[in-house]
Amino acid sequence: MVFCSWHFPDAGLDLLREMADVHVWEGPEGAPREVLLEELRHAAAILALPPTDRLDATAMEGAPHLKVISGFGVGFDYVDVPEATRRGIMVCNTPGTLTETTADQAWALLLAAARNVARGDRYVRRGAWKKYEPALLLGADVHGATLGIVGLGAIGRAVARRASGFGMTVLYTGRAPKPEAEAGVGATFRPLDDLLRESDFVSINCALTPETRGLIGPRQLALMKPTAILVNTARGAIVDGAALAQALQRGEIAGAGIDVYEREPVAPDDPLLACETVVLAPHLGSATHPTRALMARVAAENIVSGLQGRRPPFLVNPDVWREPERSSSPL
Ligand code: DGY
Repeated sequence: MVFCSWHFPDAGLDLLREMADVHVWEGPEGAPREVLLEELRHAAAILALPPTDRLDATAMEGAPHLKVISGFGVGFDYVDVPEATRRGIMVCNTPGTLTETTADQAWALLLAAARNVARGDRYVRRGAWKKYEPALLLGADVHGATLGIVGLGAIGRAVARRASGFGMTVLYTGRAPKPEAEAGVGATFRPLDDLLRESDFVSINCALTPETRGLIGPRQLALMKPTAILVNTARGAIVDGAALAQALQRGEIAGAGIDVYEREPVAPDDPLLACETVVLAPHLGSATHPTRALMARVAAENIVSGLQGRRPPFLVNPDVWREPERSSSPL
């Protein structure tokens, strides 16, 4: 049996139904923890919803038949990968399906925050706009500015490529310089602190790992220019949300565009909700019709391959993979 913790696009579910008994959680919100644990008792594979589902040691402990955890997305911080590997469970994701779409969303938030698109929308709707005012909601120029990218992976590079149309200087940071990627997108390496000091816009595009959790905290925010804008389309926990809200409230940075949160859905008392200069989106990075359909298909293909004894196209923990033994007998 394959458990799907969401009613994923048919492009994926149909593929799974061709080869297995498929249980789909149809509730309006993600599958509750108790449902997930119950379904896992019988499942050979799960098509999971990152970052909401939690595939930790407890979940795996109660899943004696589980062979494949396939995430609907690229991030795999919702899985205890070492534990899965120890248990011989394949962990799969969908890299390449959402790169360009997520880069578009980073730019949508960057532009919206820079040019007060959401604030302007609220202003017009509440009837506050009485006359053309030369000093109304003045924003920041994007063209010619400096963009700092934290994490020059596939999405970071796609964000960088878009910057050339705006005539921007592009900086990036990461564990180490990446000369090839750098040359491809015209970006220059800087240590994180220098990137934060020099950039007008900072886009977070790294994975959430133990090293990047809380990477942008009070000290790092204080290094940014008071005119700078922070954009996060990666994972909420990379940025200290309380520190960000405080920096925005105090005007220590000019604005932010946020797609991802430490807790999702965002808590009603999250201090970011009270900040006028932040543009908020409900984790829409990959939210277009074609991209979501492609993600579902690739996530399903990972499961089909894994259960049919073929190496899944996108295996996060290759150590778990053993070629099926071939008979050595010539007969
Ligand atoms: C991803 O691909 O990781 C998206 O954020 C969806 O979780």
